[in-house]
Amino acid sequence: MPADTLTLTDNRTAKTYEVAIKDGAIKATDLRQIKVDADDFGLMTYDPAFMNTAACKSRITFIDGDKGILNYRGYPIDQLGEGSYVETAYLLLHGELPNAAQLADFSAALLARVEVPAFFDNFFHAFEQSAHTMSMWMAGLAALSAAYPGARKVLDPASRHEYTLRGIAQVLTLAAYAHRRAQGLPIVKPKAGLGLVENFLHMLFDREPDPVLVKALDVLFILHADHEQNCSTSTMRLVGSSQVDPFTALAAASGALFGPLHGGANEAVLKMLRHIESVENIPAFIEGVKKGEGRLMGFGHRVYKNYDPRARIVKQTADAVFAVTGKNPLLDVAVELERIALSDEYFIKRRLYPNVDFYSGLIYEAMGFPVEMFTVLFGVARTSGWLSQWEELICDDDQKIGRPRQLYLGEARRDYVPLENRG
Ligand code: CMC
Repeated sequence: MPADTLTLTDNRTAKTYEVAIKDGAIKATDLRQIKVDADDFGLMTYDPAFMNTAACKSRITFIDGDKGILNYRGYPIDQLGEGSYVETAYLLLHGELPNAAQLADFSAALLARVEVPAFFDNFFHAFEQSAHTMSMWMAGLAALSAAYPGARKVLDPASRHEYTLRGIAQVLTLAAYAHRRAQGLPIVKPKAGLGLVENFLHMLFDREPDPVLVKALDVLFILHADHEQNCSTSTMRLVGSSQVDPFTALAAASGALFGPLHGGANEAVLKMLRHIESVENIPAFIEGVKKGEGRLMGFGHRVYKNYDPRARIVKQTADAVFAVTGKNPLLDVAVELERIALSDEYFIKRRLYPNVDFYSGLIYEAMGFPVEMFTVLFGVARTSGWLSQWEELICDDDQKIGRPRQLYLGEARRDYVPLENRG
């Protein structure tokens, strides 16, 4: 019997099957041969929330959740912080770090595309000023699909490359425009001569950005750029598998990110810290969480059962930012909350540690961002990861349109009863 196989016995029929193991997995479709009789559809796997299903092969991001390891294209996340977000975006897309000339070309190509079509000058005025910035940004992504019909040629590599560059660059401009709308301020156009992240801060705040804050935001963007098959990336892949244009898929992915269990957690953390207000209120809050009255936002992760390596770097970045902006007064609450949670049996038993969102909001707030921008910041950085994963999906011969199955547990066939005959 070949070593790389799994032998299964169906005790319903006493039949034995052999299925191949490749790359540490069996193919779910290999189980379809396991049937009780000819009418049986064949055995399926039941995996709500995809707890143990690999939906793709990928060469982009590696996570070891037990050890707290995160690598992009093999490079540890803490080392990538020595470079820039633009370099990381290149790495995610191309698979290798750029040399100096490649980095300069890539950076220039992004900056050349940072300006959005003219209709966006007024686009966000269609929304109430009170609209959530993330909702406006998401609408902006969908509107890029209307602006760029050429992006529908998803099987053309040159077209994909062009719109990938526009996507990575223009999500920043849309985010800045949406922010300005939410603040009731006029838009600020991109400025020649600034780097990508610098330009973003210029469009947001209309002043010369502090280099320390540019570097801090750059690091935060690197940390958020990709995270393998999370909820929004899986959405990007599922929607992208229908061969729709990338901007429609990005809008869908951003919708998934908006939820408080995913990218919306950074906003929820800050609201939670404001609600707790002071260190004395923490024990009562923790007791409430343990009783199921709410979650400790910014804690826990589906994959990490150890300290999220991104959270560690965010915490270090906070020190650099607070040296410029002054300390966020909620930092003391966050630090004490973390200390108490990490020594509490409830969190220890469930292996709940701070994730990337626990401290990032404190930095964003100190930098002058309103809470409604926090998830947008996550999204603009994640766009490079979403588009890299989309490129990989389109080029993968194993991929078809995504289409999960179900276990139908509803009524068997029955006849329609006219309204007058129903009791
Ligand atoms: N606070 C309190 N209890 C929690 C928390 C939390 N933050 N997270 C999980 N638990 C408990 C949960 O109640 C369950 O307990 P029990 O076994 O007694 O029912 C157990 O831990 C397992 O939780 P789960 O919901 O089955 O775990 P999951 O893998 O489905 O959820 C999660 C992962 C991130 C959605 C969850 O930990 C959570 O809701 N965290 C708070 C929201 C958050 O910070 N999200 C950001 C994630 S990191 C950024 C990103 O990539 O999006």
